[in-house]
Amino acid sequence: MYHNRIRLGVNIDHVATIRNARGGIHPDPVEAALLAVKAGADGITAHLREDRRHISDRDIDLLMEKLNVPLNLEMAATEEMLTIALKHKPASACIVPEKRQEVTTEGGLDVSGGYDYLSPYVQKLRNANISVSLFIDPDEHQIRASKKIGADKVELHTGTYVEKVGRDRKEELDRLRSSAALCEKLDMEVHAGHGLNYETIEEIAAIPQFTEFNIGHFLIGEAIFVGLEQSIQRMIELMDKGRGFSLDHFGNGKD
Ligand code: PXP
Repeated sequence: MYHNRIRLGVNIDHVATIRNARGGIHPDPVEAALLAVKAGADGITAHLREDRRHISDRDIDLLMEKLNVPLNLEMAATEEMLTIALKHKPASACIVPEKRQEVTTEGGLDVSGGYDYLSPYVQKLRNANISVSLFIDPDEHQIRASKKIGADKVELHTGTYVEKVGRDRKEELDRLRSSAALCEKLDMEVHAGHGLNYETIEEIAAIPQFTEFNIGHFLIGEAIFVGLEQSIQRMIELMDKGRGFSLDHFGNGKD
């Protein structure tokens, strides 16, 4: 049986976090993005936050200019971000909830609660040929609301799964499994991301409906020890292993 390979979107936000710690130009997230592509990333993800704590407007300008793979722009559903997205027209936009005080994106978007606001917002992006993803918890109501709103895809938040241990983790894994299966039933593409690392990736990759993972913090952290190319290549290997996919000598997928 043949399996589809999972695409890897490398999130470069935390290269910018390190750069901004000293306010200079090093390390350059755009250079890191190009290196990530060389290492096998299928796309690059960057979150332009309202407070610009890591990725800057100039980074987005340069990513759009230099990348030859899709840019997935993570953004809050604000008017400012809509203007920026419509100006750049990245391949995709992932709408995330954003709170000023949070350390990272803490939970999924409340699509059912924000339906009236989000529905025209998503349409404006889609009308500009930007493929829209909604970052949600693995929850049936949120998935159904995302479908109803007309999102092209959802990204399921894996942060809770990664944080839990033992039985709690198993329960969260089951939630991710049934949520991914529901997305397939509703004919909606499903991605996953947040907190994924070498320890957790295989189990998540084994869920057959996932077509893309967006991974940042762990890869950038691991790059301190082994370099960015190696950390990405190891992640891709484990994704392929989890999916039960390996390459034969002719580059064809097989079990
Ligand atoms: N996906 C989304 C929607 C996110 O907000 C983030 C964090 O910016 C990620 C994926 C990547 O998470 P991590 O950096 O923990 O791998």
